[in-house]
Amino acid sequence: MAGPSPTLRPPRHDDVVPYTEFLADPEVAVWLDDSAQVPLSAARVEAILFRDAWCLWAIECDGTFAGVTSLYHPDLVRGIARYSIVIGDRTRWGQGLGAAVTQQVTEYGFATLGLRKIEADVLEPDTAARAMLKRAGFAEDGRLRKDAWRRGQWVDRFLFSLLHEEWRQRNQT
Ligand SMILES: CC(C)(COP(=O)(O)OP(=O)(O)OC[C@H]1O[C@@H](n2cnc3c(N)ncnc32)[C@H](O)[C@@H]1OP(=O)(O)O)[C@@H](O)C(=O)NCCC(=O)NCCS
Repeated sequence: MAGPSPTLRPPRHDDVVPYTEFLADPEVAVWLDDSAQVPLSAARVEAILFRDAWCLWAIECDGTFAGVTSLYHPDLVRGIARYSIVIGDRTRWGQGLGAAVTQQVTEYGFATLGLRKIEADVLEPDTAARAMLKRAGFAEDGRLRKDAWRRGQWVDRFLFSLLHEEWRQRNQT
């Protein structure tokens, strides 16, 4: 069976409320930055969607807003940016949506923006995110030990990266 075919589109103002609700879900937020570990106001989420971002897209699947993905913290001298993805609609987890979005964003980063390297980091254990990145060809560069406080304990942060030449090799026809 074919996997999901998400559309990446610019965020819209009617995404603010559902995205605020997604980020208020502890099962989603626990994998995100420290800044998302407290409830975020709609005004803050609006800033995330419309003011803070470098390259940010709403993920739409079957005509419904399902989350947000971005390339952020660009370092254009070194040709590096960081990748993030939040599928806030948990009913969609485990169906290949993350893999399909990662494919589209890495293609944009390398083929359109000409990046040299895309980095990502994942908090332990986030098995799905690690599997998703590995499936997309990201290598695990290492881990920062006991780097974030989650659910009553310090957890490691896994560092991943994908080089332009690795991506090109995987996507040669
Ligand atoms: C991480 C996330 C984007 C994955 O999205 P998804 O649509 O569920 O991912 P996919 O269905 O494409 O699955 C990707 C891989 O993870 C595996 N996977 C999915 N859910 C899993 C789970 N609960 N446990 C173990 N593996 C899982 C899949 O089998 C697949 O591996 P494979 O390609 O080797 O078969 C989604 O869970 C999410 O948004 N989580 C919250 C935020 C987050 O963790 N962001 C990542 C920071 S980089």
